[in-house]
Amino acid sequence: MFKWLKGKKGNKPNDVNIDYNRIPKHIAIIMDGNGRWAKAKGLPRTFGHRAGVETIRKIIKECDKIGVKYLTLYAFSTENWKRPKDEVGALMNLLVEYLKNEFEELNSNGVVINHIGDITKLPKPCRDELVSAYEKTKNNSGVVMNLALNYGGRDEIMSAVKDIIEDIEDKKISKYSLDENLFSNYLYTKKMPDPDLVIRPSGEQRLSNFLLWQCAYSEFWYSNINWPDFTEEDLHRAIFDYQNRDRRYGGIK
Ligand code: FPP
Repeated sequence: MFKWLKGKKGNKPNDVNIDYNRIPKHIAIIMDGNGRWAKAKGLPRTFGHRAGVETIRKIIKECDKIGVKYLTLYAFSTENWKRPKDEVGALMNLLVEYLKNEFEELNSNGVVINHIGDITKLPKPCRDELVSAYEKTKNNSGVVMNLALNYGGRDEIMSAVKDIIEDIEDKKISKYSLDENLFSNYLYTKKMPDPDLVIRPSGEQRLSNFLLWQCAYSEFWYSNINWPDFTEEDLHRAIFDYQNRDRRYGGIK
């Protein structure tokens, strides 16, 4: 199986000089603009999603190459069920196709294929592929790819609160031990660092219920490019800008 070339840093893209010693550990991306990309080409929206999968392929590989440890991709939100049935169905089919087609290559390159969100509401073939991909890759040591599916930040926080109440009632934890750290352990992203950088292409500048708790001190990067046109070079630009920000976490320097 094809092995990605690791450590070939700086070959491409060559006009953005990122500092390879300060690569963000966790990048989260709102993969927006697939529909507009397709519309501009006179194609059905689902073609945009399919083109978006090509971008995922490129970006995961680039993340592995430059040393990003966690990549979280917003693929389907708790609100996306409001879309036409055909589009929802096409997205679910695309997910199964993606996991089936890409599994070998991702696994052989050490990627952990993880998911976040309430996947119990997804169709069975999606759940089966997600669970099987995770089980087979959970001990890999490469990039952790979090596919956010039926994910909503408010939903995640609500379900954490319910689980905490249950654990307090069952005397598994004491209400006095509850702090931000313990709370974080009830989220889908438990044991992962918060995103350093959140990227949203397509011109929209909002969070759309994505990682509400985890993004408290993330840096944001927006661009007008639609997700299917997003390239490795755009990723480097986002990282370059990130590396030139002054992260103070509410303090002063
Ligand atoms: C937002 O663009 C995109 C989505 C809701 C779906 C993202 C899905 C993929 C990139 C492919 C499927 C994912 C996997 C993991 C196989 P939009 O459709 O809202 O675009 P628009 O705002 O231009 O209409």
